[in-house]
Amino acid sequence: MAARWCLLLLVTVLAAATAARAGAEKWEEWDPVIRMPGEKEPAATRGGEDEEDDGVGTRWAVLVAGSNGYGNYRHQADICHAYQILRKGGLKEENIVVFMYDDVANSALNPRPGVIINHPEGENVYAGVPKDYTGNQVTAKNFYAVLLGNKTAVTGGSGKVIDSKPSDHIFIYYSDHGGPGVLGMPNLPYLYAADFMKVLKEKHASNSYAKMVIYVEACESGSIFEGLMPEDLNIYVTTASNAEESSWGTYCPGMEPSPPSEFITCLGDLYSVSWMEDSETHNLKKETIKEQYEAVKERTSDSNSYGVGSHVMEYGDKTFKGEKLYLYQGFNPENANVTNKLLRQGQKTAVNQRDADILFLWKRYELLHDKSEEKLEVLRTISETTMHRKHLDSSVDFIGKLLFGVEKGPSTLQAIRQPGQPLVDDWDCLKRTVRIFESHCGSLTQYGMKHMRAFANICNNGTPDTAMKQASISACGSYNSARWSPLVQGYSA
Ligand SMILES: *[C@@H]1O[C@H](CO)[C@@H](O)[C@H](O)[C@H]1NC(C)=O
Ligand SMILES: *[C@@H]1O[C@H](CO)[C@@H](O)[C@H](O)[C@H]1NC(C)=O
Repeated sequence: MAARWCLLLLVTVLAAATAARAGAEKWEEWDPVIRMPGEKEPAATRGGEDEEDDGVGTRWAVLVAGSNGYGNYRHQADICHAYQILRKGGLKEENIVVFMYDDVANSALNPRPGVIINHPEGENVYAGVPKDYTGNQVTAKNFYAVLLGNKTAVTGGSGKVIDSKPSDHIFIYYSDHGGPGVLGMPNLPYLYAADFMKVLKEKHASNSYAKMVIYVEACESGSIFEGLMPEDLNIYVTTASNAEESSWGTYCPGMEPSPPSEFITCLGDLYSVSWMEDSETHNLKKETIKEQYEAVKERTSDSNSYGVGSHVMEYGDKTFKGEKLYLYQGFNPENANVTNKLLRQGQKTAVNQRDADILFLWKRYELLHDKSEEKLEVLRTISETTMHRKHLDSSVDFIGKLLFGVEKGPSTLQAIRQPGQPLVDDWDCLKRTVRIFESHCGSLTQYGMKHMRAFANICNNGTPDTAMKQASISACGSYNSARWSPLVQGYSA
C-alpha cells in the first residue's frame, strides 16, 4: 500500500501498443456473431444503416464523471470523449444522459477556455455535450434514479432518464477515483457496490432492457462486481482494474506522449482511452465486445506484462461477448473501412490515479511565479494534503493494531478474500464503520477510499461499533482535522 502512495511517480515505459496489434489480423478470420432476432447479416463495410434494421430497439447510454476539480480534468475529458463517440455512432442526444460536474472546461486553470481534449493531439470533445446533471446534481442518488427511469426520484438537472423498453440496449460508462467497494462522486456520499447491485437488479426486474454493457474506470473497480454481479441479468461488465489495484491516468505532464506544454494535468485514463481509441479505429459492425475487451486488456496491462497499468476484468453475463459493438456504441460510417489499425500512437507512460492529483499540484506549483501569494497557497495545499494522507494511513493502521493486536492488525486489515467473494458481507456495517472513522479522524477524501478494504475487514471480523469508535478516538483524538472534518467535507457513507 505504501509504495502506491510514493510521491515519485511510478512512471514506467509501456511498450508501444501498436506492437501488441501484430496479431490483430486473426480477428478477421472468425465471425462469432450472435444476431438478434430478425437481425440481418450486417453489411459491415456499407455503413449508414438504419437502427431499425438490427433488431435492437433504442440504444441508451449513461456517462458518469465521478470527480470534480481541474486536477481531475481527465475524468470529464473521458466522459466528453465517450459522448462524441456515441453521437458519431448514431445515438441520439435524448438517449444519452451525461453526469459531469462541469468545472473543467471553464476553469481559470484551463489553458484552452471552453475546450476539453482527451489526447495530446485530440480535438475538442466538450462541444455539444449536454449538461444533464452538473455541479451538485452529480450524485449517486440521481444516477440510480436516471438508470431506473424514475423521473420523480431525480433532483434537479435536465430530468432526462433512461426511459427504456424491453428490446433496448443500455451502455454505462463511468470514470473516476474509487476504492474497494466504492466509486467516487463529486458530491458525497459515494456510490456503494451493494446499492448499485440493487439498482441493477431492480432495473432487470422492471423488464426494461434487452441487454446492458457497463465499462468502469476506477481504482479497485473490480471490487464493485467481484462476488456481487449476478450472471443472469443480461449485463456484461468490464473494469479497468481488479478488486485490489489502482487504475491509471495517462497523457500526463512530463510523460510520453505529453499533453501540450501548457497543460499541467493528465488528459485521460489508460483503460478509458484504450477502449475509446479502439472504438474510433475499428469498424464497430465487425468488432465484437470480446475483441475490444481483449485489446483494451492488452493495452492497459503493458502488453500483459503488468509492468505498468492494471488487470482489466470482466463480470456478469459473458454469453453475448460475440456480439458486435455497434449494437451498444453505434456505428460511425466514417470508420467503415478502418480495419484494426490504431490511428493514434499508444501511450508509453501512465500514473496511478491517486498520484495524479499530487502531480497536478506540483506542476501547478512549479509554474507559478516565485513569491506569489498563490504559489504559497498551492504549497500549503500540497503540504496539508500530504499530511492528511499520512494521517489517514497511520490512523487506519493504528486502529487495526488496537482492534486485532500489533502483530495481526495490518494483515487482518489488508486480508483479501478469495476471488468470487464480495468485499464485505454486511454493507450497512461498512457504511457505519466509515462514518465512525470520519467522525473522529476526518474525511476519507478520494485518496482515503483506498482504505475501504480495511473497514470491510473490520466488519468481516464482527467488530462491534463501540469497539470501532473507541479505537478511532484513541487513534485520532488529538488530530486537528478542522479542514478535513466531515462537517465541512460531508460523510462519504
Ligand atoms: C420513483 O421514485 C419515487 C421517489 O423516490 C418513489 O416513491 C417511487 O416509488 C419510484 N417509482 C418507481 C416506479 O419505482
Ligand atoms: C469504404 O469503402 C467502400 C468500397 O471501397 C467505398 O465505397 C466507401 O466510400 C468507403 N467509405 C469510406 C467512409 O471511406
